[in-house]
This record gives sequence, structure tokens and C-alpha cells, in this order.
Amino acid sequence: MPQVVFHDQKNYQGAKPIGLDNPIPQLAVGKEDEPQWLTDFQRDGYVVVKSVVDREKALNYYANAGEDWLEGFKMGYKRDDPSTWDAKNLPRSNHGGLYSQYSFAHAQFVWDAKTEPKIVELFETLWGTKELTVSFDGGSLAVPIPFDQVQGNAKPWPHSDQSAYRPQRHCVQGLLNLLPNGPDDGGLTVLKGSANLFEQYFKEHMHLEPPEKWPRRDGFQWTEDELKWFYDKGCEWVKPVMEPGDFVLWDSREVHYGDFPKLQNKRFAIYICYKPMSAMSPEQQERKLEAFRRGYCTTHDPCDFLIKGDQEAEWNVNFPYAKPVINEQGQKAIGLIPY
Ligand SMILES: [Fe+2]
Repeated sequence: MPQVVFHDQKNYQGAKPIGLDNPIPQLAVGKEDEPQWLTDFQRDGYVVVKSVVDREKALNYYANAGEDWLEGFKMGYKRDDPSTWDAKNLPRSNHGGLYSQYSFAHAQFVWDAKTEPKIVELFETLWGTKELTVSFDGGSLAVPIPFDQVQGNAKPWPHSDQSAYRPQRHCVQGLLNLLPNGPDDGGLTVLKGSANLFEQYFKEHMHLEPPEKWPRRDGFQWTEDELKWFYDKGCEWVKPVMEPGDFVLWDSREVHYGDFPKLQNKRFAIYICYKPMSAMSPEQQERKLEAFRRGYCTTHDPCDFLIKGDQEAEWNVNFPYAKPVINEQGQKAIGLIPY
């Protein structure tokens, strides 16, 4: 078998987004019994689906497991002692709590969340198939640490998670919210309606393409100047209020960022993304299986993914805890066993 070659998001040098020539999966929309959330999603580029997990389970199992995960590094962080809420007491993260290393995507509680039946059902409805494959993207365990310890001083970092060279709807991301998430708490913030304008923006702004081209990896960082075009078309920033156990789906093209906690409340969330297995190339399937064996975290797209940076960094520890036990549905969604 040929050696698996991984492509790293941090220094991706491909001439075009990975898997650009593969078929684009289509949403199962326009049916007579289309649920309201799916209609809303298409219009706004995001939608909150309430209570996909019981509030008690979200708090008592998932959020607690997140705390256990942070404390288990034994770096000094204690969940109930704000005097220990400091970057030096926590494992390394991006944007103050975004975990894309330490096999976060493969922690037991993260796999349990990914295989929650109501979450899987949402994606089955979205794509119109039960044969799905799941992402190894990370999650957010954001503890209110001082702003000057947070990347970019905890300011907004508006971005889309698709390349300008992949302007059609290609990936739908999701996150399971674990803690009460009010207007002043950290949380996902979206520029409502921007996903449906993504393609048009790049068509109308070809003259702004820099000599070195726009990024070929699936990501685009927006400036306020660029976003004015979206504001003029009526897009507004929305930070949905969410309860523990609520799930939010968003089109990867939607302009968004994870807001950092402004008060003393933490923000915990697990990223979960499914796509039809039919969109997976055999080459990516091989990479996916090897990424799973090694405990790597990847970008959001379950098929056309890159691995996140620093998976083999000397400071990173893959599988810092036990390897996960995954149910049959999860094993199928990885490709460990066939559908
Ligand atoms: Fe994102």
C-alpha cells in the first residue's frame, strides 16, 4: 500500500483546494416535508436546533468531561478556582480555548457527542442519506483568561471556512453547545445571510485577487473593509443565544468567528460535521483512517480535509488519555467498518 501523505493546513501548498475535482454533495432540500430548520438554514446560512441533547446530559456529562479533560493535564487549572484561570495553567490552544491538538477530536466525550443519535439524524436529514462520514475537527473549551493572553487580544476574527476557489456550498459545520450561552458570553457569532453571497463576492472582486492568489486552503480571513459589501446587502452580525444541548449548523461559507467570553462564564462546544460518505475519495479515506489511528485533528470538512498544524510537534501529545470506544455508527462514519 502506498504511504499516506498528509497535507497540513498551516503550510498547505496545493495549487487548488484539496479535492476540488470531486463531486460536490447536494443538500436534500425542496421536499414537501422539509423541516423548518432546514428552510431557515438555507436562507440564513445558519440555524440553531434546540435540545438535541438533554440539558442535564450536556451539563453533567459533556461539560464535566471537558473540565476533566482540561484538569487532567495537571498544569494547575482548577475548574472552580478562578485564580487558576490563566493560560500557563492550561494546554496550548488557539484563540483562547480552541483545541486542535492533543487528539481533542478523539477524546471519549467528543466521540460520544459525535454519535448522539439526534445529531446524526440532523445530518441524515440535511444530506438525505444515512451513509455519512464524520469530521475530526476540534472544539472549544474557553475559560475566561486575561484578554492579553488570547490570540489577537480576544478581538473578533471574522473568517469563512472555505476557499475563494471553492465558492459553492460544500460543507456544513456544526457544534454542540454545552454551557448556558447568553449575549455577553463567548460563542459562535455569524454574519447572517453571508453564505449565500460568498460566491457573488469573489465574482465581483476578482480585481482584488492578490498576485500570490487567495488562500487555496479552505479558509478566508475577512477585513472590515471587505465586509462592508456584505453589510450594504443587509447582512447583520448575530450571536445566537444557546442553552446546553442546543446545536448550531452553519454553511462553511458563512462569515463567522468564535467570540471569546467577556464575563466570567466559560464557553464549551464540540465541533461536529458529517457529509455523505459518497463524497469521500479513496485517497482521503486512507488518510482518514491513518489520521484516526494517529489521533490527529483535522479541518472541518469530513471528506476534503487537511490535518491541523502541529500534530507531530514536540509539545503535542496525541491520545493524552485512553483511546476512545466508538459505537457501530461511529465506526462506519470513520470507515473502520463498511456500511
Ligand atoms: Fe470557522
